[in-house]
Amino acid sequence: MIRPVELIERKRDGGELTPHELEELMLGYARDEIPDYQLAAFCMAVFFRGLTGAETYALMEAMIKTGETVDLRSALGRKVVDKHSTGGVGDKTSIAVGPIVAACGVPFAKMSGRGLGHTGGTLDKLESIPGFRIELSTEELIEQVKSAGMAIVGATADLVPADKRLYALRDVTATVDNYSLIAASIMSKKIAGGAEAIVLDVKVGDGAFMKSEADARTLAETMLELGRNAGREVVCLLTDMDQPLGRAVGNALEIREAIATLRGEGPPDFVELVLAASSRLLTLSDLGIDEAESRERVERALADGSAVEAYERWVRAQGGDPDESALPAAPVVSGLAASRAGYVAELGAVRVGQAALHLGAGRQAKDDEIDHAVGVLCLRKRGDRVAQGEALCEIHARTEEAAADAAQELESAYVLADEPPPESAVVIDVIA
Ligand code: URA
Repeated sequence: MIRPVELIERKRDGGELTPHELEELMLGYARDEIPDYQLAAFCMAVFFRGLTGAETYALMEAMIKTGETVDLRSALGRKVVDKHSTGGVGDKTSIAVGPIVAACGVPFAKMSGRGLGHTGGTLDKLESIPGFRIELSTEELIEQVKSAGMAIVGATADLVPADKRLYALRDVTATVDNYSLIAASIMSKKIAGGAEAIVLDVKVGDGAFMKSEADARTLAETMLELGRNAGREVVCLLTDMDQPLGRAVGNALEIREAIATLRGEGPPDFVELVLAASSRLLTLSDLGIDEAESRERVERALADGSAVEAYERWVRAQGGDPDESALPAAPVVSGLAASRAGYVAELGAVRVGQAALHLGAGRQAKDDEIDHAVGVLCLRKRGDRVAQGEALCEIHARTEEAAADAAQELESAYVLADEPPPESAVVIDVIA
């Protein structure tokens, strides 16, 4: 029997833990035999001391062992693909990518997480759709992928229960941005979820957990290594998170933007990422097509309406109402005007994420309720030219007072300059 305090102490002092110790720690936590406060201290020790490659793999395996694993290949007789992002502001990519991939005839199954810190979570976004059920049993997940072509679910009691608890705990103990913890958390869900091929969107920049390209590359390589050791095909897209992705930040607003994108009306940066991730997934799938053919099929699914149909089929299958008018809307909508003419030189992702969080779109404590209607629409983004007095963004709030507070925060997110900033792409690199 392990003594958690001894493991915490050893990690705090820079020592190494064995796979058996990490397994006992995770199993004890998932069974409620080890309390939150000891895991909080453990995560903080890991934050400062790090984990070795072997410890990171052992932690991922230990987390997987706290629940069931799904063998989608046997259940479906197909190669199932999955995509995951390390977390950012305005990142609703999976909600658009899943239906596109499903529309192209490739089964898509994904386990997602909730918002962490200033970043949003796919599950929180999906819960803004009335009736949408994020907790499916393994049997329901398999049945749904068979009938509707795709599913996005939470880490349930059945699958990686340790991550579900740890994720919420890390969110409120400032222990999110450690690459071993992020890699083990993401890859445990991916491996347990049974997908054979995975596209990882590793975000870098102000609004990402990894601020520098070097750290993001380390995270990408850690996840590639975990995937390789577990016998999965993994491709990492290194993508820009210096400004929010797309225009919408906030749960229901982001669902609307994902639907618009499936209709072929998405904002350019978001479309670029959705096309890149979807075509990579098709290339990895069992369709046996190359990158150019994949891209063509993805563009066709957007143009011929089959991606929107796949979205509607999926949302209905998961109990939700796919009609956009069913989404909640905020009672107060106000604008923020540009104080001067010029170009948007910067649009700080963290500031926008925090403004949305303070409006109620995210959690400040573990059990906070989310307001799905509120958030920010960034009408102008980096590189855009604005006239004095023109609206930079739209604030969707519960009260006038909350809107006024958000306006102040957003004012500092926008930096206006005389010259346009250098052009930059969303997809910085592809690491395979
Ligand atoms: N996404 C996850 O699934 N886990 C993390 O730890 C961070 C982002």
